[in-house]
Amino acid sequence: MNILIVDDEPAHIEAIRRAFRASDTKAVVRAASTLREYRELAAAEPPDIALLDLNLPDGRALEALSPPPAANPFPILIITAYGDEGWAVQAMKAGAFDYIVKSAVAFAEMPHTVERALREWNSLQACRRAEENLLISEKLAVMGRLTAEVAHELNNPLAVVISRTSLLLSRPDARRPPLKSQLETVLRSALRCKIILSGILGYGRTIGKKDELIDLSDLIREAVNDIGYVYDMSAVNMEWRGKQAGVEVSGNRSELLSVFINIMRNAYQAMEGTGSLTISVRRDPDNNRVRLAIHDTGAGMSGEQLAKLFQPFTSGWKKGEGIGLGLATSRGIVERHGGRLSAESGGKGKGAAFTILLPCSAKVRGKFIQ
Ligand SMILES: Nc1ncnc2c1ncn2[C@@H]1O[C@H](COP(=O)(O)OP(=O)(O)OP(=O)(O)O)[C@@H](O)[C@H]1O
Ligand SMILES: [Mg+2]
Repeated sequence: MNILIVDDEPAHIEAIRRAFRASDTKAVVRAASTLREYRELAAAEPPDIALLDLNLPDGRALEALSPPPAANPFPILIITAYGDEGWAVQAMKAGAFDYIVKSAVAFAEMPHTVERALREWNSLQACRRAEENLLISEKLAVMGRLTAEVAHELNNPLAVVISRTSLLLSRPDARRPPLKSQLETVLRSALRCKIILSGILGYGRTIGKKDELIDLSDLIREAVNDIGYVYDMSAVNMEWRGKQAGVEVSGNRSELLSVFINIMRNAYQAMEGTGSLTISVRRDPDNNRVRLAIHDTGAGMSGEQLAKLFQPFTSGWKKGEGIGLGLATSRGIVERHGGRLSAESGGKGKGAAFTILLPCSAKVRGKFIQ
């Protein structure tokens, strides 16, 4: 441990040094006799703890407590003469960690006193850090919820823009070149917004909307179409196994769609536009759940990355192309639907597979065709 003693009485410094030499505590003891010297030594190498005499030739120890101790990386113990305790208390109010009244016994006990003070200081610091982290995560959760509310509100008008533009595009009089390409640009931009919103939709939010029956194949088709309209999928070899009709799940359509979009967009990003994307849908042997797997041949992930995959705000794309909410949101949505979302990867460069398990709608369990 690195200790800095500041006292203008050489005999006091020597008494403390002697106590440390006689103890088991391994300590490097540096000494200063003025505030100026103390500041220079502490700036050159901050000690683990500083012992400051209250009265020094160039000022009171109180002055060493500025900036306030919240910014101090080490605790300061004030050593005061008998009768000066009033000042010592004032020093503690200003941020000193503790005070010790000078005596032969106090000097001899200094190694224990210092050790105890450091233990208390460290646990106090750990407590402070934990409180700060809690505050940060609370703020993030509030931010996430707020963002999700905004995303949800924007989703409906955006759906209107997309459906009306698609409708216009299907009209014979919209097939003329300038109009057609302009409408296509509007549609592409709106779909891009929809995909961005998918990343944050539903984060930390319980949806009040009623569940509906959803055809899983329809949903996958819509996700594939949206992605294909916005990203260049020409170099992606897409395979869809188990394209059964009539596989229905019960839930919130736009939320579940955002899960598929998130996972497929990640796969596209991981493959940097080139590779194979395989979607497979199959019934679990117990007949109650549907298992949807999305496998890509992209960048893959290390064990360390996999462990943090579903934590919010942990984006790993090289060019900062994400905010790291897509999977955290998706897992929340799948779990709210009574399902499970998990990921696997053989390692870096070995692709990734995401599995979504969802309960089949009771109405259609019997009809599932393998
Ligand atoms: N298929 C995948 N292959 C390799 N890494 C992946 C894959 N999917 C996700 N990841 C990694 O997991 C991280 C988190 O993904 P997530 O979708 O939650 O956030 P994001 O894509 O970074 O941002 P956004 O909120 O825009 O989706 C990614 O940044 C990436 O590092
Ligand atoms: Mg993503």
